[in-house]
Formats: sequence, C-alpha cells, structure tokens
Amino acid sequence: MVQQTSSCQYIPTDQQKTGTPLIYGENLSHTFHAKQDVVAVNKVDFGITEGKITAIIGESGSGKSTLLKLIYGLLEPSSGEVRYRGWLVPTRKDKLIPGHDAMRLVSQGFDDLNLYAKIWDNIASQLPNTDLALKESKTRETLDRLKILHLGQQRIADLSGGEKQRVAIARALVNEPEVLLMDEPFNQVDAAFRDALQQDIRRIVEETGLTVLLVSHDPTEVLAMADELIVMKNAKIIEQGPPATLYYTPTHSYTAQLLARSNILSSDQAALLGISSHHTIGIHQEDVIFEEHAQGPFQVKDIRFRGFYKELVLTNGQLALHAILHPLSNIAIGSNVVVNIKKYITFY
Ligand SMILES: Nc1ncnc2c1ncn2[C@@H]1O[C@H](COP(=O)(O)OP(=O)(O)OP(=O)(O)O)[C@@H](O)[C@H]1O
Ligand SMILES: [Mg+2]
Repeated sequence: MVQQTSSCQYIPTDQQKTGTPLIYGENLSHTFHAKQDVVAVNKVDFGITEGKITAIIGESGSGKSTLLKLIYGLLEPSSGEVRYRGWLVPTRKDKLIPGHDAMRLVSQGFDDLNLYAKIWDNIASQLPNTDLALKESKTRETLDRLKILHLGQQRIADLSGGEKQRVAIARALVNEPEVLLMDEPFNQVDAAFRDALQQDIRRIVEETGLTVLLVSHDPTEVLAMADELIVMKNAKIIEQGPPATLYYTPTHSYTAQLLARSNILSSDQAALLGISSHHTIGIHQEDVIFEEHAQGPFQVKDIRFRGFYKELVLTNGQLALHAILHPLSNIAIGSNVVVNIKKYITFY
C-alpha cells in the first residue's frame, strides 16, 4: 500500500515519525478514573506490521480491549503515544467522530447493524450515492468476499450468529479501511463456522493487503490465524512474536500456560522428575510421555475426554502433571505409569 503522509495528520502540531511500524505504541498507558483508579494499560511499547494479522491475547481483565480502543482513538492515552503511519492517532478531543479514518472496529455485539433491513442495504448504506454503479459493484464484491452474497435479500434479524458476524465484517470492509480491528470476533460462532471465517479473513488479508488486529483469549484461534501475537498480563505487554515462537519458546510461564496449557513446575518440583534447574520450568502436555507399568511411580488420577484425545492428570503424590493421551487407549484411572519428559522450557 502507498505510504500516506499528510492525509493521516490530524493534529496540527504533530510531526511524522519515520521508520516506525504501521501502528506504533510507545510508553502507552490508560488509567480509568472510576471509584478507584484502574491502570488498564501500563506503559506498553509495541509495533504492528502492515498486511499481517496480529492477535492480542491475555486473560480476562488484562487490558486487551483497552489497548484496542487506544489504537483506534476511542480512549485518550494517560501517558505515551500511539501512531499510525508515523502520525499520532487522533482522539475525541481532536476529531468530531471518534475512530481513526483508516481503521474500522467490529465489536462484540452487533449494535451497528440494522436488524430489520436487508443484508444488502446494511452494506450498501455505508457507501455514498455519488456513483450508483460503483455502489452496486462494491457491495456485491464485499458480500461475495465474505461469502454472504446469497443472503443479500434477507433481513439481519433472520440470520444466525455466525452469518451476522460475517455481515458485521462486510460492513466494516466495504469502505476499504487499511486496518480492521476486531474484539473477540468469533465468540458467538461455532467451531466449524469459526474455522471457515478465520480462513476467509486470512484470504482477504492476502488478497488485499489489509492489516488485521484482533483481541482473543482463545489460544487455538490465535495460533491458527495470527502472524504475530501480543501477550498481555496485568496491563502490560509481556511478550510479542510469531505464534510458533511463543508456543515453543515462550519467555514467560504465563505465555506457556495461555498458549499450550503447559505444566509449570518450580525447581523443587522439577527435581522430582530428575530435572535439575535453578529456575521455573514449563512442560507442554504433549511432551509428557508415559507408559503403563505396574511399578510406575505415577498414577492416573483423572481422565478428561477431549474428543480425539484425552487429557490425563498423573500424580506421584507430590506432583501433578497434565498429559495427552493420543491415540486413545483403554488406560484406566488408578493405573500406574512411568513418565518421561521429552523436552522442557526454562523460564529465566
Ligand atoms: N470503562 C471502564 N471503567 C473502569 N474500569 C474499566 C473500564 N473498562 C475496563 N476497565 C478495567 O480495566 C481493566 C482492563 O479491562 P479490559 O476491558 O481492557 O480487559 P480485557 O483484557 O479486554 O478483558 P476481557 O477478556 O474480559 O474482555 C479491567 O480491570 C477492567 O475492569
Ligand atoms: Mg475485552
């Protein structure tokens, strides 16, 4: 996409910073002044690359939605700054209609949709009437991209949750924003539908160069979809990187737990497995290898059915380990097992 200059300048005194990523945050904070002050985002630095899908992941209350709103300009930074193409993102005090013009936000509800209007009209109404042929072709193209062209004449009220989600995204994309922001976009969608929509968004990103920033607390979602992850904990960004890197070599035990539901052990606990470490370690469930053995020091304490695999809780009385049973076998609760650790991660 072409590097824009003056069109992104909203604040007369602002000077464009060069050499920054598409979206760039530095020392960015936001404090809510409620009954008590809540620091929802605390001095974070980050960069978001153009034409990629970045996911913000973290436990509930970690500040994900607040960060998204700061990036869009719906909230005022309490400290630091956020820039788009090197220019400060305008907030309510700089701009009458809140929200950066190059971005669109799809939020959790479907508040923006007109429930009793047709799908077609919900999308077309976003475009001006100056060129009716263009309005028609753009609407058609956008519906087609989101695979909802066949629903054009139906009312929103008659759609499923997943179909409504597609309409909300189509509505956000029809004006060709450069950035699509989504807060927990796939919440109301079942797994198969979600997978298809994720792949469609990936395809749109590849075809159009759109930049996507989404908030999620579902690891399977972000691992499958994102090019880059931003991990938030207690209002801080604790690490950022590609999904596979953060999955296999996380720097923080929190990330390992979030992405891989890893077993986190203190050095004393690690010693019980014959692992000598001065630091906390993480063992992914798929790296706990076990075998039934009458004299095995661990016992199967619990078996959780997860579909094509089972999650086993193994304990030796001092330590509980979660492990994956796949392919399925008839191992029973109470069986003795020997445990081998294929690999582990050290958290320095
Ligand atoms: N309008 C508000 N007024 C006061 N406090 C708020 C407000 N919005 C959010 N907070 C607080 O700021 C913190 C971060 O909230 P935020 O909504 O950004 O979290 P989140 O990571 O999106 O969580 P979730 O996954 O549950 O959506 C929380 O402690 C929350 O209670
Ligand atoms: Mg949120």
